[in-house]
Amino acid sequence: MKVLEVKGLTKYFNGQKVLNDLNFGLNEGEVLGFLGPNGAGKTTTLRIITGLYRPSAGQVYIAGINAVANPIKTKGLFGVCTQDFSFNAHYNIEQDLYFYARLYGLSRREALEKARYSLEWAGLLEHRRKNGDHLSGGMRKKILFARAMINDPPLLLLDEPTTGLDVRARRELWEMIRDLKSRGKSILLTTHYLEEAEQLCDRILIIKKGRLVAEGGPGELRQYVDVARLLTVDLNRQLTLEEKEWLCALPGVKNCKSRGTTVEVAFDCQPQLAGELVQKVCQKLEPLNISLREASLEEVFLEVTGRED
Ligand SMILES: Nc1ncnc2c1ncn2[C@@H]1O[C@H](COP(=O)(O)OP(=O)(O)OP(=O)(O)O)[C@@H](O)[C@H]1O
Ligand SMILES: [Mg+2]
Repeated sequence: MKVLEVKGLTKYFNGQKVLNDLNFGLNEGEVLGFLGPNGAGKTTTLRIITGLYRPSAGQVYIAGINAVANPIKTKGLFGVCTQDFSFNAHYNIEQDLYFYARLYGLSRREALEKARYSLEWAGLLEHRRKNGDHLSGGMRKKILFARAMINDPPLLLLDEPTTGLDVRARRELWEMIRDLKSRGKSILLTTHYLEEAEQLCDRILIIKKGRLVAEGGPGELRQYVDVARLLTVDLNRQLTLEEKEWLCALPGVKNCKSRGTTVEVAFDCQPQLAGELVQKVCQKLEPLNISLREASLEEVFLEVTGRED
């Protein structure tokens, strides 16, 4: 059974269609990247999953339970790290976590133990007497992770948990996400950092205007771009017109651009092609250096979210 299933999700705000027949599933133990440009509908989707908004059409199932019809029944099955958040000004972070543990029905003693354990897990035990608003951005996100995990749910919904953090804080949160995965949690991870999606996610969805435009493992997403590989060739001179024509006519080559003494050749991803191409280019052009790389997730993202509808 899928931990999360989203079926035909559609949402209108003031007559404007924000989600458009969105379908996807999250498997047990999987980290699923949920990507899309600003305003694509990611947070709206998460808010519908958590029961904060009602969809205009479609269904959400969490562990097989219809979350739209029975939002109360699914509340204990997920933890959420929201994009916008606040801390109660009167609580320190230990009391904050204790409060959330009590909301989930833990006894006073259990809640206290859980708050301590969570603070330790987040590496924030020594800061337990501070209010969340007095902590650094990275620490605040760690507290949100601890909150999301307070009742040990199978599903975690993380809405841009690392946005705006420095590199070190981001890497620490990555470690926490990896730790959650190793404990068998299923995670829906929204992010604008494509490197983060590549590092952490088993599968990636890209949405645009509330509609799914690409789906696959980080490596598989290259199928969405015409130009799947790029060859960079450094010469000790400029490319001649005749050489450029020759390059462009080679099998699989989509285009070639030259800038100074550097030539970039974009070509599609047929097997064997790369080797043959490199060999031909080396023979004819005698380059100083030659390097080959695959299209990056960033190039895929720009391509699939930039296309005309
Ligand atoms: N409560 C609301 N009332 C009206 N419109 C809304 C509401 N919530 C979201 N929207 C609109 O829905 C669209 C999708 O917004 P959403 O916040 O889901 O995008 P997002 O993908 O999370 O973007 P970001 O990457 O900026 O967080 C936007 O056009 C937004 O203005
Ligand atoms: Mg958002």
